[in-house]
Amino acid sequence: EKGGYDYFMLKEIAEQPKAVADTLLGRVDAAGSLTLDEVRISDSELREMDKVVIVACGTAFHAGLIAKYAIEHWTRIPCEVELASEFRYRDPILDQQTLVIAISQSGETMDTLMALRHAREQGAKVLAICNTNGSTIPREADAVLYTHAGPEVAVASTKAFLTQLVACYLVALYLGQVRGTKWGDEIRAVVRDLSHIAGSVEQVLGTMEPVRKLARSLADKDTVLFLGRHVGYPVALEGALKLKELAYMHAEGFAAGELKHGPIALIEEDVPVVVVVPSPRGRSVLHDKIVSNIQEIRARGARTVVIAEEGDEAVTPYADHLVRVPATPTLLQPLVATVPLQVFACELATARGNEVDQPRNLAKSVTVE
Ligand code: M6R
Repeated sequence: EKGGYDYFMLKEIAEQPKAVADTLLGRVDAAGSLTLDEVRISDSELREMDKVVIVACGTAFHAGLIAKYAIEHWTRIPCEVELASEFRYRDPILDQQTLVIAISQSGETMDTLMALRHAREQGAKVLAICNTNGSTIPREADAVLYTHAGPEVAVASTKAFLTQLVACYLVALYLGQVRGTKWGDEIRAVVRDLSHIAGSVEQVLGTMEPVRKLARSLADKDTVLFLGRHVGYPVALEGALKLKELAYMHAEGFAAGELKHGPIALIEEDVPVVVVVPSPRGRSVLHDKIVSNIQEIRARGARTVVIAEEGDEAVTPYADHLVRVPATPTLLQPLVATVPLQVFACELATARGNEVDQPRNLAKSVTVE
């Protein structure tokens, strides 16, 4: 049942190109326009929405953080992202013009379910992004967009995360489309880029041997830090979460711009720092800033593991280890940049003798608050 892999997690990592393609299937037509027929909130209702609030936990929360960048950029609707476990306890401001998006692989996470119920009680519409047919969260939501990752068995979420991202991009694009905006051409271009993304994920998977080797060489470390900015920041958080849950190592993700506000004090000789570098083509200002960050931490002794786009030579002199990912539009980069971090965490867990599919103290779906 593990399809020849040692762990479900490895199998699920390998299944990501298909999971991504399947989640797009039938939802995008040749002309680049989107059909989302499982969204049973009418277009006129969607046109009225003046705020989006995303609630989720763990890895799904990280997908939500990335979705915020896409939703605000493509639709100009303000979007908040909140940990589901915090949401209802702060008396959030919600009404009929709030679209709440609940993201959950299992569809059974109690924190997310309680947030959903609270949102509906306040009159908000809830759209679920979920991987499990007929589970509680989509049943209680006003509408659902299923991710087509197939069953995810390993406790550490991998393919579900990538498909959550795809679903979030689709929702963002759809909102842009129904609100009929000047964003039309840009949206069509993104839809085209999305249709090639499964191939890019496949390409990354084919180049992971050096990442595995690197992970094995770091098995005796105590701490690994992760840096990113813009959509690379939630990718850094996700890389750190994977490492915590699988390798039981201290790992933290930071927004690179925050380094000088505190975290740089953690940098000492030989501490591994994984840096997710934004494309030099898109937001080149951010790219240049992160290159300076890499220089700064390296000057203080950090061992830099740099994840950068093919052809980005500016990073080369400062990378102790360089991991290449295919060139991708900035907002879609998490779909390729997360994959090496999953492989890294899985290999470190193995090297440390940990149980990969069933990390200690964790359950696949957390059905208590
Ligand atoms: O089933 P859900 O997506 O609602 O689960 C949310 C989190 O519990 C989950 O993503 C958790 O953080 C994973 N173990 C991360 O790998």
